[in-house]
Amino acid sequence: MALRHFLTLMDLSPQELAYLIDRSITIKRELADNGPIYTPLKNRTLAMIFEKSSTRTRVSFETGMTQFGGHALFLSPRDSQLGRGEPVGDTARVLSEMVDAVMIRTFSHDSIESFADASSIPVINALSDDYHPCQLLADVQTWTEARGQVRGKTAVWVGDGNNMCHSWINAARQFDFNLRIACPEGFEPDQEILDAAGSRVEIFRDPQAAVEGAHLITTDVWASMGQEEEQTARMASFAGFQVNEAMLDSADDEVVFLHCLPAHRGEEVSETLLDDPRALVWQEAGNRLHAQKALLEFLMIGRVGQ
Ligand code: CP
Ligand code: NVA
Repeated sequence: MALRHFLTLMDLSPQELAYLIDRSITIKRELADNGPIYTPLKNRTLAMIFEKSSTRTRVSFETGMTQFGGHALFLSPRDSQLGRGEPVGDTARVLSEMVDAVMIRTFSHDSIESFADASSIPVINALSDDYHPCQLLADVQTWTEARGQVRGKTAVWVGDGNNMCHSWINAARQFDFNLRIACPEGFEPDQEILDAAGSRVEIFRDPQAAVEGAHLITTDVWASMGQEEEQTARMASFAGFQVNEAMLDSADDEVVFLHCLPAHRGEEVSETLLDDPRALVWQEAGNRLHAQKALLEFLMIGRVGQ
């Protein structure tokens, strides 16, 4: 099949993304019913390059490959030649000779693009400073499982206009829902990404006004990986942007709350929000496994059975 990468949600068509959500729900149901007997990636290898920390992403990709009968290989810059300056393009060519797909978590989005340009196997963005598309597959799946079709609904992003926010903007475009972004001045998402989404995405300054009647509320840490030195200053900038139970009370009666995790309780979320029945964060984390299995199957084999 033709080589495809997944660097942002815009790399797949809306129809392909809808297929992936359906396929993930099927894969999840069949795993629950039958156990891990479906092994379409037998003897295939996924290389996983992690230049930042991870719990969910590493465990979900590695477990997904194991359940599919394949293998996942963890590579960190500390103990690979990438950390000693071997160019990403050279690494991409070498890995293309040996493995079947590559997953990368790094800082600069440009370096993932350079890697993909030189790669002859599928490349998956597992988080860059600009995007986190794999997380959005799990998030849209979770929202769909809980409340049905997301088209035409209203989601609210509260907090930093960061990598997760950018992927929510792309999700609003691709899955056809409205997105309100409540962020402090100076922490807006990238203007080009915002402009491309047109009128379906709106910026708010008052989080309380943004969440009125919303069907979904989501947030993320105030200081992302790589911004640790800004943590104290950001705590002050984001005061008033904590998502709490009272905010959810102003939303639609059927509102759901998502968070990609890890969360900082008492900062961007109240101490107790993750335990609220409207918070679906554990289901959301679990869906990383199923959604990425659907993605791996799609990129390495193509569409299956639907
Ligand atoms: N949400 C997410 O990507 O989590 P990890 O950083 O633990 O992989
Ligand atoms: N915005 C966060 C997401 C972590 C999954 C970060 O980049 O650290």
